[in-house]
Amino acid sequence: MQTVTAIAHPSLAFVKYWGKVDHTLNIPANGSISVNLSGATTTTTVTFDAALNVDHITINGAPGEHLRVAGHLDRVRRMAGIDARAVVESRNDFPASAGIASSSSAFAALSLAASRAAGLNLDERALSILARSGSGSACRSIPDGFAEWLPGADHASSYARQIAPPDHWDLRVISVVVETGAKAISSSDGHRAAATSPLFQARLAALPHALETVRCAILARDFAAFGAAAEAEALSMHAVALTSRVEGCDWMTGICYWQPGTVRMLKAVEDWRRGGLPVYLTIDAGPNVHLLCEAQCQAALEAELDALLPEVGADAHYFVSKPAPGARVVGD
Ligand code: PMV
Repeated sequence: MQTVTAIAHPSLAFVKYWGKVDHTLNIPANGSISVNLSGATTTTTVTFDAALNVDHITINGAPGEHLRVAGHLDRVRRMAGIDARAVVESRNDFPASAGIASSSSAFAALSLAASRAAGLNLDERALSILARSGSGSACRSIPDGFAEWLPGADHASSYARQIAPPDHWDLRVISVVVETGAKAISSSDGHRAAATSPLFQARLAALPHALETVRCAILARDFAAFGAAAEAEALSMHAVALTSRVEGCDWMTGICYWQPGTVRMLKAVEDWRRGGLPVYLTIDAGPNVHLLCEAQCQAALEAELDALLPEVGADAHYFVSKPAPGARVVGD
């Protein structure tokens, strides 16, 4: 069988996916909108080999069982009607489990490489559905550029489609890595806990308006409307997380993904905006902060950030992204 290598970028949400109606299929409680980040890449190579007895999976140089990946290979085998085990080698050029949505690029690249290596030629929608089965947000890393995940009601109707190509808007995302350690509460646990928050239903009720505002602002390249809506949306997700109860963890005050460096960044963004610099932020399920700006403000923002970084954390650093293409094969 063929060896296929695919790459994909993390999907950064401007309207967040938080809470599921089906935890097995990853059917979300709400739609979400995102962009692929050019500054971070997962590269995954898959070979199915009938001579193997078990899957050999290596992630970032570490061989192991990697059960979620093995489970995803089983899905691909079932779709392709094959039994062969696989060799999988996957590498991120950015820290995993730190709020950089590594599972989105990981399952997008794996879905494309594994399905092609198994002899399947899935269209974008089918590939997005497959990626979603591995990790919800991965469905949005399949289309190029800006994507919207249509929540759907079942396996066939829950997938992401493009709302604008990468070159539609020269947006910049400056991802500030406040901490590189793994987070204490996984996003899966966060999704599970979301409905325990008294704010969850209020958030869901507000989401159609947030989706509409962010989608229209992206299409109109209206940065002020876009940034304000995306920032408010991220804070709404974190308000739900902060007020959620995690089963079996009564000692927790709620799910707080933030670290002191995260709060320092929030204050800095307020100061910069008050001083006339148009910058907004979003935060995923981790401590890191993604700054949103337009191309013409990138240099000014980087100058401010360079001066601030020592206050954010001893190892704090950042990388810059533009809107990126979706998952693609790089050699088969
Ligand atoms: O795909 P998951 O299960 O890792 O969930 C991702 C959740 C957020 O990154 C916090 C939000 C999002 O829409 O990507």
